[in-house]
Amino acid sequence: MQEWKRLCRLGDIPPLGARRVQRAQGADVAVFRTAGDRVFALLDRCPHRGGPLSQGIVHGERVSCPLHQWSIGLADGAAAAPDEGSTPAFSVQLRGDEVWLDAAELASRATEALPASACGRRCTERA
Ligand code: FES
Repeated sequence: MQEWKRLCRLGDIPPLGARRVQRAQGADVAVFRTAGDRVFALLDRCPHRGGPLSQGIVHGERVSCPLHQWSIGLADGAAAAPDEGSTPAFSVQLRGDEVWLDAAELASRATEALPASACGRRCTERA
């Protein structure tokens, strides 16, 4: 059975921005808000070099990574061609003006991914 965890109110997420959800293990999750007030959740790690997607700019239903501007789909975490790769997506619900996340996914999905600050790569270098 799915168990949902309340994260915040929609207004707590900046329009065209994101809110980070810290996890006890593994990388954070980024919850995004579009111009049309849709919400999506992705692992806060770009599939390129681990950049923090939560610091990117939302456009339509995509986010541009702040490091090298790869365009990542908010629904599926997939990079737009010609780039390749994807980052895990998480279930999210908007109930009225409250944002809810799947508690089991938060506890288990992609927990092997380290936070960007601990990835050991030079995430700020240009591609
Ligand atoms: S780390 Fe995201 S585009 Fe390079």
